[in-house]
Amino acid sequence: MTDLSPSDLAKFAAARRSVDFVEDGMKLGLGTGSTAAWMVRCVAAKARAENLRLTCVPTSERTAVQAKALGLNVVSLDEAGWLDLTIDGADEFDPQMRLIKGGGGAHLREMIVAAASDQMVVITDPGKQVAQLGAFALPIEVVPFGIDSTMTHIRKVLESADVAGREIALRSSEDGPFYTDEGNCIIDAALGQIGAPEALTQALNAIPGVVENGLFIGLCDRVVIGHGDGKTETLSADEDAIETGQVDPNEAASLPG
Ligand code: A5P
Repeated sequence: MTDLSPSDLAKFAAARRSVDFVEDGMKLGLGTGSTAAWMVRCVAAKARAENLRLTCVPTSERTAVQAKALGLNVVSLDEAGWLDLTIDGADEFDPQMRLIKGGGGAHLREMIVAAASDQMVVITDPGKQVAQLGAFALPIEVVPFGIDSTMTHIRKVLESADVAGREIALRSSEDGPFYTDEGNCIIDAALGQIGAPEALTQALNAIPGVVENGLFIGLCDRVVIGHGDGKTETLSADEDAIETGQVDPNEAASLPG
């Protein structure tokens, strides 16, 4: 019997199914977040069990620490060059497999790594599936210099954007502003609904001081949804059929880490 909560079992199930796409010799992008942390453990278990030669590129310092501790071969993106596959979590996804990411503050590196990969597999749970993006506040990474004027520009862009809400706030941590691995700040935009994600991402990224926002468009190839009973559903960008599966919850107990 597993003692995992349904929430953790859903994350494990998505993670476990996603590593079926990992093959010997791959250059692999490792995402960030609580679901991705399960995936890193599943990758390490698979690499050990099948003696795989993998080259892994983490999307954050915390994922790098975890992957190294589990004995994975970790290199920088520049050392790896182009990647075969990136597996990462998401905060929301819509029917077009457009995503909101960055709840953990890593979306800049996550996007750079995903964009340098042949394939991106996103691991999620059913609560992150939405008809329209925007219930999750959109993270916007900005450089600290001139942040007040950058926020003014963001407000102006949102005034004319097709969104339901326009509240923005500087993300904070216990010690003051939250800083990303790149030393930047994050502005979270509570938009409610985003009617035109493509137009919004272009307008936000055109603002001086904005580095990247958390809308991932045209990057995701597959979404693996894990459920609280270990069931999985895999959606593909190029296939209509949904593939279903069942993960053995007891496998979680034997994962490293
Ligand atoms: C990290 O910056 C994010 O993009 C995460 O991938 C996303 O927030 C999902 O995280 P969880 O798996 O913890 O929900």
